[in-house]
Amino acid sequence: MDWTSSPASALHGELAVPGDKSISHRAIMFAALAEGTSRVDGFLEGEDTRATAAIFARLGVRIETPSASRRVVHGVGLHGLAAPDGALDCGNAGTGMRLLAGLLAGQRFDSVLSGDASLSKRPMRRVIEPLAAMGARIESEPGGLPPLRIRGGSDLRGIDYELPVASAQVKSAVLLAGLYAHGETAVREAHPTRDYTERMLAAFGWPIRFEPGRAQLSGGHRLRATDVVVPADFSSAAFFLVAASLVPGSHVLLRAVGLNPRRTGLLDALRLMGADIRELDAREQGGERVADLEVRHANLHGIEVPVALVPDMIDEFPALFVAAAAAKGTTTIRGAAELRVKESDRIAVMARGLRELGIAVDEAPDGAVIHGGRLRGGEVDSAGDHRCAMSFVVAGVIAAAPVRILDCANVATSFPDFTGLARGSGLDVAPAAPR
Ligand code: S3P
Repeated sequence: MDWTSSPASALHGELAVPGDKSISHRAIMFAALAEGTSRVDGFLEGEDTRATAAIFARLGVRIETPSASRRVVHGVGLHGLAAPDGALDCGNAGTGMRLLAGLLAGQRFDSVLSGDASLSKRPMRRVIEPLAAMGARIESEPGGLPPLRIRGGSDLRGIDYELPVASAQVKSAVLLAGLYAHGETAVREAHPTRDYTERMLAAFGWPIRFEPGRAQLSGGHRLRATDVVVPADFSSAAFFLVAASLVPGSHVLLRAVGLNPRRTGLLDALRLMGADIRELDAREQGGERVADLEVRHANLHGIEVPVALVPDMIDEFPALFVAAAAAKGTTTIRGAAELRVKESDRIAVMARGLRELGIAVDEAPDGAVIHGGRLRGGEVDSAGDHRCAMSFVVAGVIAAAPVRILDCANVATSFPDFTGLARGSGLDVAPAAPR
């Protein structure tokens, strides 16, 4: 599925982007393992999170959908999951697969986790190794690739683990296995990552100690049902933050966006570039800080992205590449090698696409140098990566002529109805004419 994104005039109006993907995955998982019935409001109706819900249905958990973006989960308790009748398909979702690997390692039954072509190329050794150190038995394809075959009935023991890469998914996999382990499980991280697993375990009543850089829990407790309100996904808001910043005359309000400090590195980076973004009516919602974000057009200039911000904006680099392409001067990104093992190699995909549109980009193994300039129209390949596809839509809006974007179907993994919302705000994006 290809899209065309054409130059547009200003963005206007109020936008409610869909629920947070990271929180939606975890809400289903913890509610499923809790005792009692939990309601999830603001659930992301994306393919990734629906795949996680479908997996728990296959594991014997009754999940109702009273209306869109709502789920009622009838938890079965920590030991109440049933053996599935075949492989569990995580779709495109690294979060789904890595967190489930930890959770399923603690079950009495065997299971297999599979995924789509992109997920089947993503590194799983980073979870297999710590889980094996806890006593889990997990086999993969050569090179640590999915599918993962997880043996049940393992006797897990807690570990003290220092993350070799900044990854909330790995941290969460270890903590989830820790629920089933004897003794204490601790995870230490040199670069703190999103702490949704820690916060949500606490909200579901599991005793856990955590602070930036460290989380510790012991096995053998219970999760108690609780209701979860999912804030709007900052990563989905990011495309509109960048588009409204770049298009003259724009003025947009993004409603109730989750502003967990481990997610908002792009806000800091855009402000360093000169963006005009205000947080209005900051409040707490379901244990997370949320605010309405008011964005006005501003003249952006290039920056050296502070390396300390990288883990806090790891999903927002495709959007930042586009902001940098349109900014005055040069933007340097370093310390972001993780971008090469996301849903695509995001450094390569964004560099190639922007070059097609006339922007000079020098690639480095762990980042890029982007020389801001005037974007022209053309054809770019998103490589099936949802965030690259949406970022190229933003590029089309500020280009001199329409941009054709190849392979956009996976936008539905994280942002169903992106095009509807985008059009409502004034963007000109539509299915491309067949060739
Ligand atoms: C996520 C963690 C990040 C992020 C992903 C969601 C999570 O991945 O890129 O989109 O929900 O824990 P890593 O843990 O691989 O950095």
